[in-house]
Amino acid sequence: MPGTCVVGLQWGDEAKGKIVDLLGDQNDFVVRFNGGANAGHTVVWGDRKFALSLLPTGVLKPHVQSVIGNGVVVYPPRFIEEVDKLRAVGIPVGANLMVSNHAHVIFPYHMEEERLAEANVDAKLGTTGRGIGPCYQDKVGRRNAVRVGELLRPDHLRERLRQIVPFKNRLMHAHCADASAEPKAFDANRLCDEYLGYAETLKPHVCDTARVLHEAFAAGKNVLFEAAQGSLLDVDHGTFPYVTSSSSLPSGIWSGSGVPSRAVTRIIGIVKAYTSRVGRGPFPTELDDGPTGIGERIRQIGREFGTVTGRPRRTGWFDSIAVKYTATLAGVDEITVMLLDVLSGLPELKLGIGYDLDGERITHFPSDSYDLERCKPIYETMPGWSEDITKVKTLAGLPTAARRYVDRIGEMVGKKISFVSIGPDRDQTIHLS
Ligand code: IMP
Repeated sequence: MPGTCVVGLQWGDEAKGKIVDLLGDQNDFVVRFNGGANAGHTVVWGDRKFALSLLPTGVLKPHVQSVIGNGVVVYPPRFIEEVDKLRAVGIPVGANLMVSNHAHVIFPYHMEEERLAEANVDAKLGTTGRGIGPCYQDKVGRRNAVRVGELLRPDHLRERLRQIVPFKNRLMHAHCADASAEPKAFDANRLCDEYLGYAETLKPHVCDTARVLHEAFAAGKNVLFEAAQGSLLDVDHGTFPYVTSSSSLPSGIWSGSGVPSRAVTRIIGIVKAYTSRVGRGPFPTELDDGPTGIGERIRQIGREFGTVTGRPRRTGWFDSIAVKYTATLAGVDEITVMLLDVLSGLPELKLGIGYDLDGERITHFPSDSYDLERCKPIYETMPGWSEDITKVKTLAGLPTAARRYVDRIGEMVGKKISFVSIGPDRDQTIHLS
């Protein structure tokens, strides 16, 4: 069955949007199965730039069916805002965009819960503030969760919110017990009216997306699954607790869309030619070398600022141990190396090839954050290149040092490389297979 998954193998922001966009032409469906508006997918077409957060990247192409699966958490105002923005620039959005009736709904109290939890310095995770974690907490806890399908039943929704909102107000007061801050108070009826308004706009898009996808596979359609965040942020296998609250590995496809994993026959792992991370948590190859250092240079040239929050991303050298770990977890068939052009002009490059953990050299990834925090990187140094590579069309056209660097990444990770990206535009891509 023709299912493909595009998955980030680092801490997110690996430029997955570009690859999904490139592959979009070969696919009838593009599906999101995890996360919500915490993601930021950027697509550049010539002088047009699109930044999507909640909607699947496929929505830019009206002939592609775009699906927000049941594993996604949906903030309706954001959904409407993104749809409106696309329509305003001439991209039609209609029946080509579907939302699962089983996806869970984010309410403003989720964001408030998150704000209050993050205000506690000791428990701070550096989240995006989009209410993602609290909404997934409610999903798993079941009692206070609302699914998208429930927005379409006005009386039922009002009753649910009348139960949930007073409880949430009490919970937020408890969060603030030791702080002087007053939490926002929410009114169930007002919230219900607001969300019933959103429901009118959402209604034509809401359906049983699992059934739609089963029918698509039965009809031999090509389906692309777009993982949000990166594998190192996966709630089970990432650097817990500094992770997101969903399964960002391809394992999330089954639960987050209802499509069995054996339907996915091609898994493409996306990596940057270096590493970035936004939010807290261990990052052994981080370049914390000040305002004139290489870390800052990569941040500026790579425009490493969060698409969602605008936060400066932490930057560092490529960590082949981390990527080998996630490539194995994700079961990738191939990898793509993104943003290679950002490294042009550096006299030498470093590649993480192991760690020193309490005096012992290790070559596996300790996914336990408390061990990872104590890991010191062991590097291999390679020569850099000074040429502008942004117009190169073939691998052979790259400077020898750049080619060697790409080859070494493939060798270290043990996977073939299918694309090398040398700039944000679609045309700035070297196809290797
Ligand atoms: P949350 O997903 O907002 O709960 O944030 C949890 C962690 O995941 C934080 O470190 C965020 O910065 C990070 N995170 C969430 N979404 C993304 C993403 O799309 N790219 C990169 N980091 C992300």
